[in-house]
Amino acid sequence: MDTAALASGLPLDEKIALLTGAGTWVLHNIDAIGLRTVTVSDGPIGVRGVDGDGRPSAQLPAPSATAATWDVDLQARIGTLMAGEARRKGVDVVLAPVVNLQRSPVGGRHFECLSEDPFLTTRLAVAFIDALQQQGVAACIKHFIANETETDRTEYVSRIDERTLREVYLAPFEAVVEAGVWTIMAAYNGLSLEGVDATATEHGPLLNGILKNEWGFDGVVISDWLATKNTVEAALGGLDLVMPGPGGPWGENLTQAVRDGRVPIDVIDDKVARILLLAERVGALTGTAGDVPAFDATDASPEPDAPEVRALLTELAARSTVVLRNEGALLPLGADTTSVALIGPNAAKLFTQGGGSAFVRAPLVADPVAALRAALPAASVSLHRGGVSEAGAPAMPSELLSTPDGAPGMLIEHLDSHGAVVDTSVITDAAHIWFDILDPRVVDVRLTTDVSVAGGGHHAIEFAPVGAHRIEVDGVLLSESGARVGSEVVLNSSYANPETFTATLPDDDADRVVHIEAVLQVVQADAYGDFVRLHLRYREPGLSVEQEIAEAVAAASASDVAVVVIGTNPETESEGWDRPNLDLPGRQNELVRRVLEANPRTIVIVNAGAPVILPWLDEVPAALWWWLPGQEAGTSLAAVLTGAVEPSGRLPWTLPADEADVPVANGLPVDGFVDYPEGTDVGHRGWDRHGLTPAREFGYGLGYTTWEYSGIAVTDAPASGAEAAAGAATTLATASITLANSGPRAGREVVQVYLEAPAEPADPQRPVRWLAGFAVVDAEPGVEITVDIPLARRSFEIWSTDAATWRLPAGTYRVVAGRSSRDLRLEAALAVS
Ligand code: BGC
Repeated sequence: MDTAALASGLPLDEKIALLTGAGTWVLHNIDAIGLRTVTVSDGPIGVRGVDGDGRPSAQLPAPSATAATWDVDLQARIGTLMAGEARRKGVDVVLAPVVNLQRSPVGGRHFECLSEDPFLTTRLAVAFIDALQQQGVAACIKHFIANETETDRTEYVSRIDERTLREVYLAPFEAVVEAGVWTIMAAYNGLSLEGVDATATEHGPLLNGILKNEWGFDGVVISDWLATKNTVEAALGGLDLVMPGPGGPWGENLTQAVRDGRVPIDVIDDKVARILLLAERVGALTGTAGDVPAFDATDASPEPDAPEVRALLTELAARSTVVLRNEGALLPLGADTTSVALIGPNAAKLFTQGGGSAFVRAPLVADPVAALRAALPAASVSLHRGGVSEAGAPAMPSELLSTPDGAPGMLIEHLDSHGAVVDTSVITDAAHIWFDILDPRVVDVRLTTDVSVAGGGHHAIEFAPVGAHRIEVDGVLLSESGARVGSEVVLNSSYANPETFTATLPDDDADRVVHIEAVLQVVQADAYGDFVRLHLRYREPGLSVEQEIAEAVAAASASDVAVVVIGTNPETESEGWDRPNLDLPGRQNELVRRVLEANPRTIVIVNAGAPVILPWLDEVPAALWWWLPGQEAGTSLAAVLTGAVEPSGRLPWTLPADEADVPVANGLPVDGFVDYPEGTDVGHRGWDRHGLTPAREFGYGLGYTTWEYSGIAVTDAPASGAEAAAGAATTLATASITLANSGPRAGREVVQVYLEAPAEPADPQRPVRWLAGFAVVDAEPGVEITVDIPLARRSFEIWSTDAATWRLPAGTYRVVAGRSSRDLRLEAALAVS
């Protein structure tokens, strides 16, 4: 269809309307040209669907977990699964993947990124996007660009030298554009490039220059949610679509700018044409009056708890698990295991997904105790928390609450600006005090409830309100603030973890009814709507952390094996903020050490997305990095512990032993700028540059068998086979690696190939060594295989800022291959002319 002609033929008001969302997740429709509403949804942990879609979604392991498989075929299967989820939920555009790099381990969205390495990120993202878009569902690659830090994310400008920008941070975006991605998300932050310090949504040299003109991107540049600041600058800078809507800086203002001649109509037509092309690609446009295509829900995708979906998610979570240590082959556990003490704050409360916009509601979370009992029928399995690691108390149980009338729940009075009650409602679910206000007169609500608690012990009620509030407990003022907040609390995610105020109840034997009255502001969050949010929590009397640790230690010493599940939690890892340090929260290090003392057969499972310091790692006999495993937590844990599936993950980032060693400690903005002085030495390259030894290096993972590498041959001809045919024009050489499974059981290896630059002429900006190829191989015990790994021309090239082009430096490159970035077993030379 000639979408350009269709676009230019539309009346101006319809053109402009199309350029801003019709709602938080939808675009405008135009019946007259057969354009139905295009729907977008987050990504990347699943497909959440639009607001109000109460249906659960398949909850995947965190993206870094799936990256730990290093398996492009599995990424393609994820793409196909997400396409099915999108169809099921009426979604046309999935806001995924995130291809920003894990520059610093403290980055809040670390778990949402794939890897610290640009090459691994690129290969996995391309596989995902190809599979997703093949099903007619668009990917939205994000966040363009240099969005590696959450702190002040809507304010800072990233300053990166151009060579680093091209070789490292733009590289995954460029590859994905070349692979034909249909949409891209302009980030909140700004970029300093070609003398322009501008926010990404209005950066001409970035969006018009590099993305559209140089790379030939023909898709839609979508703003991150509420990121667009200025009307004309964003329009001229290359942004195509403001999200969310309605409202925002375009609309009437943009129409006026066109009429005044400040924005040429061609610029508008180009944006409209791009949106129409997107609509055509996802099957939302016929171009014929009145002929609006219905959403194609014909391919009935399986529900997220269907056996085939659960099997894939289990395989993903198990395959992504990384064996960090396995002394004396403690793992996998044999069928003769008699008793398992499952211990730890994260065993009692699994952390399955990180916080923020990627959140999806899972249909279930597979219980580890049940899964272990099923997998080890001869063993008794017991669960012991061993202390809590979260600072906040658990959510208030709804059944403790009653309204002043004695009905279950909380009375909500909707107040206008004079404090008059304009409406009332009752909320019964205390775990989610987060509701929309539809009446624009309502500026505050008054929440009234009575909490019935049984006497004895230490009780506490915690309140974490968002914005202005006044909270009274039994008529006594607990907290008051007049500081009203707006949409910034959504952008910085502070609504997820606001300041807590605690009411401690007297420690006596009296049963009591605690009267709560709280006036809470309505947060007017622009296109995110108007809402009220309060975290209401209750800590009931119980064992102290010390008592719980002691109880867990006793259980460990009485068991055949202790499995300690430790890690981060929703207070730690989320979009919206960066972590202050890499410590495990609470007393979890102490828990591990004390359990180990009680039972030498201790296996530690790390339930975290991003690196944490594990000071005892080389003292425990076995440790697995289990990520944020998604809905199939329990089933995947049982599968890897028993070896039903080999945990064949390899770290897609570096695990520090000591926080002081981390090359980029935090990457926080200073005076509004985030600088990247390490240049191209991102991630493991920085550790190599400084000769530092991490706890476990990039690419590390033991699996359950052993491998012997015996031969490498590098030829400068492209490899044979389908992959090579596809990349023939860009493949410069092929590394053929021979290896054998030298262990006792079938296994999966990730063969990794790194390059080192010619010694002469010296190029100090080149990393010591960089990843240039990898392949996943399966082999039975004793079987030898040779795998051909293509090495792309781009892996050898450097960006010449002076000539503004790529150059291929001639000379002899060292090609090294092995099991990780530090366990390199083979080497060969390759002359490049
Ligand atoms: C995030 C995006 C997300 C969008 C919509 C933003 O705050 O940065 O990744 O897609 O919200 O939820």
